[in-house]
Amino acid sequence: MYYTIIKLVEEAEKKIKAAKNIKKLEEIRIRYFGKKGKLTIQLKYIKQLNSYDKPVIGDAINKTKKALYKKLKQHNALFNKKTIKNKIAKEKIDVTLPGRFGEHIGKLHPITHTLYKIKKIFSNIGYTIVNGPEIEDEFHNFEALNMPINHPARAMHDTFYFNDKYMLRSHTSSMLIRTIEKHNPPFKVISAGKVYRCDSDLNHSPMFNQIEGLVVDEVVSFSDLKRTIEILIKVFFEGQKIEVRFRPSYFPFTEPSAEIDVRIKSSNDWLEVVGCGMMKPNILKRLKINPKYTGFAFGIGAERLTMIRYGIKDLRTLFNNDIRILRQI
Ligand code: DAH
Repeated sequence: MYYTIIKLVEEAEKKIKAAKNIKKLEEIRIRYFGKKGKLTIQLKYIKQLNSYDKPVIGDAINKTKKALYKKLKQHNALFNKKTIKNKIAKEKIDVTLPGRFGEHIGKLHPITHTLYKIKKIFSNIGYTIVNGPEIEDEFHNFEALNMPINHPARAMHDTFYFNDKYMLRSHTSSMLIRTIEKHNPPFKVISAGKVYRCDSDLNHSPMFNQIEGLVVDEVVSFSDLKRTIEILIKVFFEGQKIEVRFRPSYFPFTEPSAEIDVRIKSSNDWLEVVGCGMMKPNILKRLKINPKYTGFAFGIGAERLTMIRYGIKDLRTLFNNDIRILRQI
């Protein structure tokens, strides 16, 4: 029996070496180590050995069998490795190949682009960017800007109220107050963000973006304000033929006040894009600013500028986000 086993082991070893794939190895395993395998059957005879031979021969046979089984497993692992390597090579993905559905590179939304551009223009001329809350209180949105309760100017804002005290800010001018409260002059700041009004037509939408600017310093005049807006418009519409006009206007927190309209040279339609003016001294005084300081402020409509820049007639087009239209812009 012992010699039969040795012979079987030699035979199996040769076959393992010659095996060309996992399938063959599995066949060998079944043939020798399976339930009815050649080796398995022989091993049953160990039981019949006498007590003198059993420990010695049994042990030797077991060791040989284990060594053989180990070889089988090693070969198996080798084949597995090769198979995986082949599979990886075959299934390799070339990430540099062009996409199947054509290439559409993501771009900034035109309004985002406008906001970035305006922020860049102002930070290039020394302005600091500040941010504030979209949920605003009565004081910052109206009262501190000379619009106490029942002031007629409040009616123009069509405000979304949460309750008596809080609302969605109807303009970024609330940031004028927040900035003066927090910072000591001299300073030059802008604050861009969303504002909300219950309004919707060709030139209005319930949510839109404003960029508020404020300069407070010792010698600040209306001509500084005018020059600032001129620079903004010149740089923003670079390469486009446009016309600008300043119109006297009224805002409760500025005096004198102006509105600025822009139009493409060949067109008839002016569009109001900026409201501005000199800060009324009583506002600065109430917030304990030294009277030697004066200031100017302006509020820019981001959507309006975008409309003129890209020739969009209906402001709401910018919010429908029809990809075909956005692509053209
Ligand atoms: N807050 C005004 C509005 O939304 C715009 C405005 C006017 C802002 C004059 C200003 C300003 O800073 O000085 O209609």
